[in-house]
Amino acid sequence: MTVHDTIVVLDFGSQTSQLIARRVREAQVYCLLLPWDSDPEQVLALQPRGFVLSGGPASVYEPDAPPLPQYVLDSGRPLLGICYGMQLLAHALGGHVAPASRREYGPAQAQVTQASPLLAPLSDQPQVWMSHGDRVDRVPPGFAVLARSDNSPTAAMGDLERHRYGVQFHPEVAHTPAGAEILRRFAVEVCGCTPTWTAAAFVEEAIACIRRQVGEGRVVCGLSGGVDSSVTATLVHQAIGERLTCIFVNTGMLRQGEPEQVARTFRDQLNMPLVAIDATETFLSALERVADPEQKRKIIGEQFIRIFEREARRLGKVDYLAQGTLYPDIIESAAADRPGARRIKSHHNVGGLPERMELELVEPLRYLFKDEVRAVGELLGLPRAIVWRHPFPGPGLAVRIPDSAVTWERLEMLRAADAILLQELEAAGWYHRVAQAFAVLLPVRSVGVMGDQRTHGYTIALRAVTTDDFMTASWARLPYDLLDRVATRITNEVPGVSRVLYDCSNKPPATIEFE
Ligand code: XMP
Repeated sequence: MTVHDTIVVLDFGSQTSQLIARRVREAQVYCLLLPWDSDPEQVLALQPRGFVLSGGPASVYEPDAPPLPQYVLDSGRPLLGICYGMQLLAHALGGHVAPASRREYGPAQAQVTQASPLLAPLSDQPQVWMSHGDRVDRVPPGFAVLARSDNSPTAAMGDLERHRYGVQFHPEVAHTPAGAEILRRFAVEVCGCTPTWTAAAFVEEAIACIRRQVGEGRVVCGLSGGVDSSVTATLVHQAIGERLTCIFVNTGMLRQGEPEQVARTFRDQLNMPLVAIDATETFLSALERVADPEQKRKIIGEQFIRIFEREARRLGKVDYLAQGTLYPDIIESAAADRPGARRIKSHHNVGGLPERMELELVEPLRYLFKDEVRAVGELLGLPRAIVWRHPFPGPGLAVRIPDSAVTWERLEMLRAADAILLQELEAAGWYHRVAQAFAVLLPVRSVGVMGDQRTHGYTIALRAVTTDDFMTASWARLPYDLLDRVATRITNEVPGVSRVLYDCSNKPPATIEFE
């Protein structure tokens, strides 16, 4: 890969650490998020132009609090500590951190007290987002207070000569409107990075990299219709042409029109070799009478691998499996390998297949965030409907029929209701204003009237959420008129449905999907 100027974010466990890396990359500077206790040699081998120390849940006074790695200070590179990261800097460099008397959480008005390359000439009173207990009440020698707020005597501090900075607030979150600019200034102006990290540069490098890895080998890629596998397949196809074969398995659990769209886009428009399998019957019979969601996921995963493997073997000798693994998956599995870490769900990949078939993985998106994948997809000319499609779970509609078994009739009812919701969202300009929207078929029947007839139909729940990262989500405030149109159409046009509900639960405590 061409060498891009790189910023390393050391992760001390904040919920928003990934956002720091995303914001820096939005400034077109390459940025990696690494655990705070990463091997110093490996970190320094990246030749970081600067370090960001993330926030985290610890207090510098706790006995097991993660410390500031010495090599970071010794590197002489510019530093930016955020929240806990700033407290670490203060603590390590001879300032004083006052233990929390009470937490400060939420919006605050900062007052810039001294000009610096980091904050000036921003507004004198930037709106910032605070979330901390401890605070810095004396800055270390060589540092000046750059900003304060009502509850934080040091909202920002800096040693302008050594290019070391700290902010008590979170510049990475949207609630700090000037935050993206602060991170850009740190990367570009303080660290001197040249902003070269663009979608076009990525595409060029990814293609060269795939060619190097694959040589004369042959690759299979599982297409799902989602943006990750579509961008992966397109990059590999541009790199090695016909030596790529895509496999698309219609599980029968997909949304309306999806199988046709995949064939149209990849086979007809992009001229990729595509094997499309309709395995609906196989999936339906494997799922017969299964109501438990984990069972459903397991069965679908197993069937999928079995079919994929069969089709891949049919192609003759294949050496590589291309997969749309993204950077957050890599970050999370690195975190999950560490002691005491929670296990994450790994429902995306064709798990186990590479070992069984002795395939090597090709993962061109492994350093990209989702928004970067979308930018690459647009650059590659993929249809907007694919690039901007809402996420869709691997087990598909099966997990949107909660508490009951999947049958063809139920799937068709759900598919029709879901299609109406998506059409009306599109028509009203709301599809792209929400992060995910879908229908759910509830196992509740209730009485209705249609003309002079009493009916006894199913209940559809509508779900639409806004979210930045899918870890938390708010229910979308869809206009009543829009909900009315959707509900009326569903009850009129989908036989067997007599009632429509709108889900007003946030995550947490609810999840986005029902199962
Ligand atoms: P939850 O329901 O956990 O969803 O709030 C968060 C995001 O993950 C998606 N999701 C899944 N994706 N297989 C997937 O590939 C699954 O089993 C699965 N369950 C949830 C969900 O659609 C949302 O985008």
